[in-house]
Amino acid sequence: MSTTPCSHHAHESSHDAPPQAPSGCSSKDPFARLNACHQHVLSVLGELESAVAELTEGQPLTQRALAAVGDTLVITQIAIPLHSADEEQTLFPRLRECAPFSQGGVTPMDCMEEDHVAHREMAAGLARATLARDPLALQRAARNMVAEYRDHISKEDEILFPMARELLRDPAVLAEMTAEMHARRVDAKLVNC
Ligand SMILES: [Fe+2]
Ligand SMILES: [Fe+2]
Repeated sequence: MSTTPCSHHAHESSHDAPPQAPSGCSSKDPFARLNACHQHVLSVLGELESAVAELTEGQPLTQRALAAVGDTLVITQIAIPLHSADEEQTLFPRLRECAPFSQGGVTPMDCMEEDHVAHREMAAGLARATLARDPLALQRAARNMVAEYRDHISKEDEILFPMARELLRDPAVLAEMTAEMHARRVDAKLVNC
């Protein structure tokens, strides 16, 4: 039996709590791990923004820009899919069971999931501009991606996650979420991601 997610529901099944993540895991607080991933993404995108600012029309792409694109594509291929799964499979379903979201209608989580789909197309656009060795297209793609991620992350960090922390306060639910997130990284061989 899975743990009831909403904080106002009594937890009655501590005997089937999931195993704790090993001590090597970066955090037992699922929200701390989600926030840390955001900081990692923002840091990589900050370097991308600075690197593409140096590009000039008609000039070759710089080594710095190519390295920043490489780092960005690595996180979009490896870290962000794990993070999106944390949100879409671990956090959002539990929020959808809580009032007022359990009553139906479009939720903020639906909007975040639409953003996740759009983000994948932005990464593809970045890759296409790099492949074409087009400095201005790369600048446009990078700046659009940076702006969209900053907006998305600020909505999650400043609105959605604080609300989720209030709705999901049962320590057993938080432990269950942490265990799911850790298991996802064990499967991906990326336990420190
Ligand atoms: Fe998200
Ligand atoms: Fe996120």
